[in-house]
Amino acid sequence: MRVLLHTGKGGVGKTSLALASALGAAAHGHRVFVLSTDSAHSLGDALGRPVGPQPVEIAPGVLAQEVAALAELDRAWSEIQEFFAQLLRGAEDELAFEELLVFPGLEELVALRAVRDVERRGDCDVCVVDCAPTGSTLRLLRLPDVLRIFMGSVFATKRRASKLLKPVADRVGLGRFVAPDDVFEAFERLYGDVEDVRQILLDEDRTSARLVVNPARVVVEETRRSFAYLSLYGVATDAVLVNRVLPAEAARGYFATWAARERRELDEIAESFPVPRFQAPLLAREPIGIEALSALARALYAEEDPARRFADTRPIRLVKRDGRTLLEIELRHTSVTDVDVSTRGDELMVRVGGAQRCIALPGSVTGRAVESVQIDAGVLAIGFAS
Ligand SMILES: Nc1ncnc2c1ncn2[C@@H]1O[C@H](COP(=O)(O)OP(=O)(O)OP(=O)(O)O)[C@@H](O)[C@H]1O
Ligand SMILES: [Mg+2]
Repeated sequence: MRVLLHTGKGGVGKTSLALASALGAAAHGHRVFVLSTDSAHSLGDALGRPVGPQPVEIAPGVLAQEVAALAELDRAWSEIQEFFAQLLRGAEDELAFEELLVFPGLEELVALRAVRDVERRGDCDVCVVDCAPTGSTLRLLRLPDVLRIFMGSVFATKRRASKLLKPVADRVGLGRFVAPDDVFEAFERLYGDVEDVRQILLDEDRTSARLVVNPARVVVEETRRSFAYLSLYGVATDAVLVNRVLPAEAARGYFATWAARERRELDEIAESFPVPRFQAPLLAREPIGIEALSALARALYAEEDPARRFADTRPIRLVKRDGRTLLEIELRHTSVTDVDVSTRGDELMVRVGGAQRCIALPGSVTGRAVESVQIDAGVLAIGFAS
């Protein structure tokens, strides 16, 4: 099943274009499921009919659902949170605890479990996701790392320790550091879910991100960063959808200056993203309802099948060059001074601007020192000692 994530800055047209992509894919004969994981759901607004948390058929061969993430955050997860709250009281300097306490990305993650559920249904070829604005989507992608660090260091130790130490811990007043079994189990379930979702999102054959952008300065700049961060987290962007482009007939007279500015931004967009672009005009009215959204799909994709994979880039790859092993990450518009690389055990920590990723290194390079860090033609290459 193909998964098409539609993300981008707030208000650029993610919901409208997600629905357009879904209807366009259905027109090519695919069975499609549209999910909204943005807690501020608006599939219903764009369709001009209610959607809700149960799947409904919105057009022949197209089901839609607005995932009720908060309602899905079940009791077990509140237990985990309570446990972390207690832990934090004992270890205020631990950033990982703090991050977990606020559960960055958890809500989106719970919502994204729905993607896995759609895949398990087995009756859909394409799952189109209307995501929350990029910031939340990126937080979600960071969550597995946070969980893994936590799992690997603190939690696993605690679990081993708990069986032996609990009675002792209780006696010396450390009981709060030893989680009860139901918290461990809830945590492991959460971790399992995160891994399932991550497997889907990081598989570039299955999942493609579509970045929705408007031809406006601030939007383009933010979208460039998003492109780099998605790549750092291992999610492949295969197209940029440029929405609300002034049509030629509107670009004369009163709007001429706007149109000239837009042309510069369009050139900038063309240079900024190494993937195909699709363009939709600024319509005379809001595209609401199946008919208007289907027309938007045709304007955007013309004869193309929206479910296709438009670029076959792999955002993160291990390559061999001249006998050396390099880890390459697609990072356009980043300079080497924005990048910080370090190793920790069998993991590589890569920080790029405001985003950080910890990448589990494959056996062939674990334990080897990082020898070089370079950026060339938009690709970060991390060289390992041989
Ligand atoms: N090409 C277009 N021409 C005219 N109006 C459009 C176009 N695309 C979207 N709109 C309208 O712009 C508004 C915002 O679009 P939409 O809700 O799809 O954006 P969004 O990125 O999902 O927003 P949010 O970040 O709030 O979820 C809606 O009223 C929508 O109907
Ligand atoms: Mg939206």
